[in-house]
Amino acid sequence: MPFKLTVNGRPATVEAPADMPLLWVIRDVLNLKGTKYGCGMSVCGMCTVHVDGEATRSCVTPVSSVAGKRITTIEGLSTDGSHPLQKAWMEIDVPQCGYCQAGQIMSAAALLAKNAKPTDAQIAEAMDGNLCRCGTYLRIREAIRRAASLKAKGT
Ligand code: FES
Ligand code: FES
Repeated sequence: MPFKLTVNGRPATVEAPADMPLLWVIRDVLNLKGTKYGCGMSVCGMCTVHVDGEATRSCVTPVSSVAGKRITTIEGLSTDGSHPLQKAWMEIDVPQCGYCQAGQIMSAAALLAKNAKPTDAQIAEAMDGNLCRCGTYLRIREAIRRAASLKAKGT
Protein backbone atom coordinates (compact mmCIF):
# COMPACT_ATOMS: atom_id res chain seq x y z
CA MET A 1 0.00 0.00 0.00
CA PRO A 2 1.33 3.49 -0.81
CA PHE A 3 2.51 5.81 1.96
CA LYS A 4 3.38 9.46 1.41
CA LEU A 5 6.38 10.72 3.34
CA THR A 6 8.73 13.65 3.14
CA VAL A 7 12.27 12.32 3.11
CA ASN A 8 15.17 14.74 3.40
CA GLY A 9 12.94 17.58 2.27
CA ARG A 10 11.48 15.80 -0.75
CA PRO A 11 8.08 14.15 -1.14
CA ALA A 12 8.25 10.39 -1.51
CA THR A 13 5.52 7.84 -2.11
CA VAL A 14 6.56 4.36 -1.08
CA GLU A 15 4.84 1.06 -1.79
CA ALA A 16 5.32 -1.12 1.26
CA PRO A 17 3.41 -3.30 3.70
CA ALA A 18 2.03 -1.23 6.59
CA ASP A 19 4.20 -3.05 9.12
CA MET A 20 7.48 -2.72 7.20
CA PRO A 21 10.02 -1.02 9.48
CA LEU A 22 10.95 2.47 8.38
CA LEU A 23 14.58 1.31 8.32
CA TRP A 24 13.87 -1.10 5.45
CA VAL A 25 11.90 1.55 3.61
CA ILE A 26 14.84 3.94 3.91
CA ARG A 27 17.49 1.40 2.93
CA ASP A 28 15.76 -0.95 0.51
CA VAL A 29 12.93 1.06 -1.03
CA LEU A 30 14.52 4.52 -1.08
CA ASN A 31 18.07 3.18 -1.41
CA LEU A 32 19.52 5.48 1.24
CA LYS A 33 22.19 3.28 2.78
CA GLY A 34 23.64 5.64 5.38
CA THR A 35 21.24 4.50 8.10
CA LYS A 36 22.48 1.24 9.58
CA TYR A 37 20.93 -1.90 11.03
CA GLY A 38 22.29 -3.09 14.35
CA CYS A 39 19.99 -4.92 16.75
CA GLY A 40 16.53 -4.50 15.21
CA MET A 41 15.14 -4.17 18.75
CA SER A 42 15.51 -0.49 19.66
CA VAL A 43 18.57 -1.24 21.79
CA CYS A 44 21.64 0.05 19.90
CA GLY A 45 20.60 3.32 18.23
CA MET A 46 22.38 2.58 14.94
CA CYS A 47 19.18 3.05 12.91
CA THR A 48 18.37 6.49 14.35
CA VAL A 49 16.68 9.00 12.04
CA HIS A 50 14.51 12.04 12.71
CA VAL A 51 10.72 11.86 12.45
CA ASP A 52 9.34 15.38 12.60
CA GLY A 53 12.60 16.35 14.31
CA GLU A 54 12.53 13.64 16.98
CA ALA A 55 15.33 11.07 17.16
CA THR A 56 13.56 7.81 16.30
CA ARG A 57 14.66 4.18 16.08
CA SER A 58 13.66 3.32 12.54
CA CYS A 59 14.07 -0.45 13.06
CA VAL A 60 10.97 -0.60 15.26
CA THR A 61 8.92 2.12 13.56
CA PRO A 62 6.33 0.79 11.10
CA VAL A 63 6.09 2.86 7.94
CA SER A 64 2.33 3.25 8.48
CA SER A 65 3.02 5.21 11.68
CA VAL A 66 5.07 7.86 9.86
CA ALA A 67 2.77 8.54 6.90
CA GLY A 68 2.62 12.27 6.26
CA LYS A 69 5.64 12.95 8.47
CA ARG A 70 9.06 14.47 7.81
CA ILE A 71 11.88 11.94 7.85
CA THR A 72 15.49 13.07 7.94
CA THR A 73 18.31 10.59 7.46
CA ILE A 74 22.04 11.14 7.74
CA GLU A 75 22.05 11.97 4.01
CA GLY A 76 19.68 14.87 4.70
CA LEU A 77 21.59 16.47 7.55
CA SER A 78 23.37 18.70 5.04
CA THR A 79 24.23 18.26 1.40
CA ASP A 80 27.78 19.54 1.73
CA GLY A 81 29.04 18.49 5.16
CA SER A 82 28.40 21.96 6.56
CA HIS A 83 26.33 20.92 9.59
CA PRO A 84 28.30 21.82 12.76
CA LEU A 85 28.20 18.19 13.87
CA GLN A 86 29.71 17.02 10.60
CA LYS A 87 32.46 19.64 10.92
CA ALA A 88 33.14 18.71 14.53
CA TRP A 89 33.14 14.98 13.75
CA MET A 90 35.78 15.56 11.05
CA GLU A 91 37.84 17.90 13.20
CA ILE A 92 37.95 15.51 16.15
CA ASP A 93 38.20 12.42 13.94
CA VAL A 94 35.50 10.64 15.92
CA PRO A 95 34.81 7.39 14.04
CA GLN A 96 36.71 4.17 14.36
CA CYS A 97 34.94 1.49 12.25
CA GLY A 98 32.18 4.02 11.57
CA TYR A 99 29.24 1.64 11.72
CA CYS A 100 27.40 3.35 14.58
CA GLN A 101 28.25 6.89 13.59
CA ALA A 102 25.23 7.85 11.48
CA GLY A 103 22.97 6.97 14.40
CA GLN A 104 25.22 8.84 16.82
CA ILE A 105 25.18 11.98 14.69
CA MET A 106 21.41 11.87 14.21
CA SER A 107 20.81 11.56 17.96
CA ALA A 108 23.23 14.42 18.57
CA ALA A 109 21.56 16.54 15.87
CA ALA A 110 18.13 16.10 17.48
CA LEU A 111 19.63 17.16 20.80
CA LEU A 112 21.33 20.29 19.44
CA ALA A 113 18.23 21.31 17.49
CA LYS A 114 16.34 21.54 20.77
CA ASN A 115 19.15 22.54 23.11
CA ALA A 116 21.91 24.61 21.55
CA LYS A 117 24.11 24.47 24.64
CA PRO A 118 23.61 21.11 26.34
CA THR A 119 25.38 20.30 29.60
CA ASP A 120 27.53 17.19 29.87
CA ALA A 121 24.69 15.49 31.74
CA GLN A 122 22.20 16.39 29.00
CA ILE A 123 24.58 15.07 26.34
CA ALA A 124 25.03 11.84 28.30
CA GLU A 125 21.28 11.43 28.66
CA ALA A 126 20.52 12.14 24.99
CA MET A 127 23.25 9.76 23.77
CA ASP A 128 22.61 7.02 26.30
CA GLY A 129 20.85 4.69 23.86
CA ASN A 130 23.49 4.90 21.12
CA LEU A 131 26.03 2.12 21.50
CA CYS A 132 29.51 2.06 19.97
CA ARG A 133 31.40 -1.22 19.93
CA CYS A 134 34.61 0.67 19.22
CA GLY A 135 34.24 2.79 22.35
CA THR A 136 34.38 6.22 20.73
CA TYR A 137 32.18 7.71 23.44
CA LEU A 138 34.64 10.31 24.71
CA ARG A 139 35.28 11.67 21.21
CA ILE A 140 31.55 11.71 20.48
CA ARG A 141 30.90 13.84 23.54
CA GLU A 142 33.79 16.15 22.74
CA ALA A 143 32.49 16.55 19.18
CA ILE A 144 28.99 17.43 20.41
CA ARG A 145 30.45 20.13 22.65
CA ARG A 146 32.56 21.37 19.74
CA ALA A 147 29.53 21.42 17.42
CA ALA A 148 27.55 23.42 19.99
CA SER A 149 30.39 25.92 20.08
CA LEU A 150 30.60 26.11 16.26
CA LYS A 151 26.83 26.60 16.13
CA ALA A 152 27.01 29.40 18.70
CA LYS A 153 29.63 31.17 16.56
CA GLY A 154 27.51 30.65 13.46
CA THR A 155 30.26 28.70 11.69
S1 FES B 1 18.99 -1.29 14.83
FE1 FES B 1 17.51 0.03 15.62
S2 FES B 1 18.07 0.38 17.68
FE2 FES B 1 19.45 -1.14 16.97
S1 FES C 1 32.82 3.49 15.55
FE1 FES C 1 32.74 1.32 15.43
S2 FES C 1 30.83 0.85 16.40
FE2 FES C 1 31.09 2.95 16.75
